[in-house]
This record gives sequence, C-alpha cells and structure tokens, in this order.
Amino acid sequence: MGATKRVWVMCGLVVGLSLTMTGAARAQGNSLMEVPKGLPPLPVPADNPMTEAKVELGRMLYFDTRLSSSGTISCATCHDPTMAWTEHRATSKGLDEQVGERNSPTVINAAYMTSQFWDGRSKTLEEQALGPIENPVEMGHKMEVLTGQLEEIPEYKKRFADVFGTEVNKEGIAKAIAAFERTVLSGNSPYDQYQAGDKNALTEAQVNGMDVFMSACATCHTPPTFSNGRFYNAGVGADKAKPDEGRKKVSGKARDTGAFRVPHLREVASTWPYFHDGSVEKLEDAVALMARGGNDSPGLSMMMKAVRGMELEENEIADMVEFLKALSGDYPVVEPPKLP
Ligand code: HEC
Ligand code: HEC
Repeated sequence: MGATKRVWVMCGLVVGLSLTMTGAARAQGNSLMEVPKGLPPLPVPADNPMTEAKVELGRMLYFDTRLSSSGTISCATCHDPTMAWTEHRATSKGLDEQVGERNSPTVINAAYMTSQFWDGRSKTLEEQALGPIENPVEMGHKMEVLTGQLEEIPEYKKRFADVFGTEVNKEGIAKAIAAFERTVLSGNSPYDQYQAGDKNALTEAQVNGMDVFMSACATCHTPPTFSNGRFYNAGVGADKAKPDEGRKKVSGKARDTGAFRVPHLREVASTWPYFHDGSVEKLEDAVALMARGGNDSPGLSMMMKAVRGMELEENEIADMVEFLKALSGDYPVVEPPKLP
C-alpha cells in the first residue's frame, strides 16, 4: 500500500504545519494549532506557548552536540529524524560508548503522551528534556556548566533574551526543546484518510486487520493517539536474570513491577526495534507477541490475559500487521540547523 511520505525540510525558519495557527489560537496563547489530519488538538502548556522563534531555538538545541559533556552527542543522536526520530538499535549508546538499558522511543507524537519515558517518570516534555542532558550514561553534562557555556555564545545569548527575556537557563532550554518537539507530529496516514471518508485508503487486509485490532488491542492502544497512557506488564523481558522493574520504580507499588507505558503506534512500521528493551526486531514478531497475550510472567496484566483468551488466528495477526503499516503518514524530517 505504501503511504506517500510528505516531508517538511525545515531550513532557516520553521515552515509547514507546525506554526500555522488560527487567529483564535493566537489569541488564546495558541493552545490550538493546526495538526495533521486525524490527530486531536495539540496539548500545549499555558506557560510555554509556541512561537516560531522558540521552536527555532529548540531546533538548534536539539541538534547541538555541545549539550553533552563530550561535545559528541545531541538529542538527534538517539532520536534521529532520518530514522523516524528514533534509532535502529535495541538500546542506546551514549557517552563513552556506555549502553543504556532501554530502547529509545520516537519523538514523533510524544507531544500527545500523558507522561514521558517507558516508566512515565516525567510528566511533560519540558521535564523530560533535562533528563538526558544530565544523565551520566546519555549526555552527562552539568546544567550549571552548560548554561554558562551557551551564555558565552552570542547568538544563543541573544536568542534566549529575545524568546524568554532571560539569560540562558535550564527552564528556557527545556521549554525551547519541548516547543520544537511539539512540531514533530505524524498524522494524515491511510488510516486517518479512511476515517475521514476515503474508503479506498485501506486495503481489504488492512480493514480486516483494523477490525481485529479494535476488538483486541484498542483498549490499550486507543485511537487516535494509539496509547491510553497507562502502564501494563506484557511479560517482555520477564525471563531476564534481572528484569527491568519498569513503572514500579516510579510508583513504588509492587503491582507495577514490569509494567511499561503503552507505546503509541503511529509510524510503528519505521520505529523498530520494539518494546522497552528493543528486544524484538520485526513488526511481525512484535505483533505476534502481543497477539498471543504477551510473554509468560508472574505479573502479566489481566488485560493481556484477555487477549490470550481470544486465540487470534494467523491470518488475523497478519492482517493486523498490514493495518499497523497504515498508521504511517506524514511527519517532518527536520534538517540540522546551522549552529552558532
Ligand atoms: C544516548 C541516547 C539518548 C540521547 C542522547 C537522548 N535520548 Fe531521549 N531517550 C533515550 C532513551 C533510551 C529513552 C527511554 C528511556 C526510558 O524510558 O527510561 C528516551 C526517552 C525520550 C523521550 C520520551 C518519549 C516517550 O515516548 O516516552 C523523549 C521525548 C526524548 N527522549 C527526547 C530527548 C531529547 C529532547 C534529548 C536531548 C536533550 C534526548 N532525548 C537525548 C535515549 C536518548
Ligand atoms: C493491556 C494493554 C495492551 C494491549 C491489550 C495490547 N498492548 Fe501492545 N503494548 C502494550 C504495552 C504495555 C507495550 C510495551 C511493553 C513493553 O515494552 O514491555 C506494548 C507494545 C506494543 C508494540 C511495540 C511498539 C513499540 O514501539 O515498541 C506493538 C507493535 C503492539 N504493542 C501491538 C499490539 C497489538 C497488535 C495488540 C493487539 C493484539 C496489542 N498491542 C495489545 C500494551 C498493550
């Protein structure tokens, strides 16, 4: 089937969907922005309204390797726009080749997630952005040192003054990066076109797959974002010597052991490998794992057990794979900017 991918190459000023605001949206601190077909209104925090200058500053910071202590790693190293804003590695390699324990999720549509990280330990993109900069395994920088370094670069100094009316500080870094990330959206997929009335947008297999998906998977992978934002144990990695505790580390509750936030599935055909540990390479295998109700685990979610009870057939699983390919639509492939 193959969706035609429209690509926004942003150079100089940010163009395209991201900042076409309606007059009304401008008046309301632009919480309403035009988003690709099929996506709900974009949630924008009242204290971080979107402006072109802020998004452009965020784009610079996102691609700037000076945000890492070694000067070699940027956000784009692990969330590469040319790899669907993720990286095709099971787990990330950060500073000094140190390998982390979790798979890098895509930045695409992260703006819609009600929490960030596989265990949901950050509430917002603003809060999330500061994590990797100071994480010793990722970018390993010290925030006081970094803000001082950026303040010495005249263009950054000027842009922070223009956008926030302040010196370079961590709140501004977080807000600018988050505003930039809110422009990284995927919608207008064959699925969205079908929903909007174009009955030819999906193949017969995809329509069949959609029906199976809506009955077996959509309570957790709920359209239109394809995540309900909650945490479940699907048994992934449960057979490891020391399984990742997942959500339990955040909530402290034993019943959250091995539970992870439901990932959204937009662009899922391009965001391999899959699951919190990147343990599955192929979409077919990821869907098969889910369709058989997850892997055996003492804490397996009741809702995964319910999927198990459905005993989905081979052809239904194959059709669901086809359906998930119909969630690939338009997303911006942003070029690295010229850095000061
Ligand atoms: C060394 C690789 C690496 C770098 C560098 C990195 N990230 Fe990440 N990112 C990850 C991994 C791995 C996770 C998941 C970690 C977890 O869940 O515990 C993640 C999670 C995220 C998430 C959460 C997405 C979701 O769906 O929950 C966002 C957003 C994000 N990173 C943005 C950024 C930004 C912005 C930067 C730069 C300031 C950055 N990352 C730098 C590897 C990286
Ligand atoms: C009980 C909630 C729940 C149900 C029902 C469910 N999933 Fe999931 N899904 C999850 C969670 C949680 C993960 C992440 C698990 C992990 O990494 O440990 C996940 C991960 C995935 C992934 C990997 C995505 C990625 O980016 O890594 C795919 C694909 C997927 N599910 C498809 C399906 C399909 C198809 C169905 C229906 C047969 C389904 N899921 C049913 C909760 C659910």
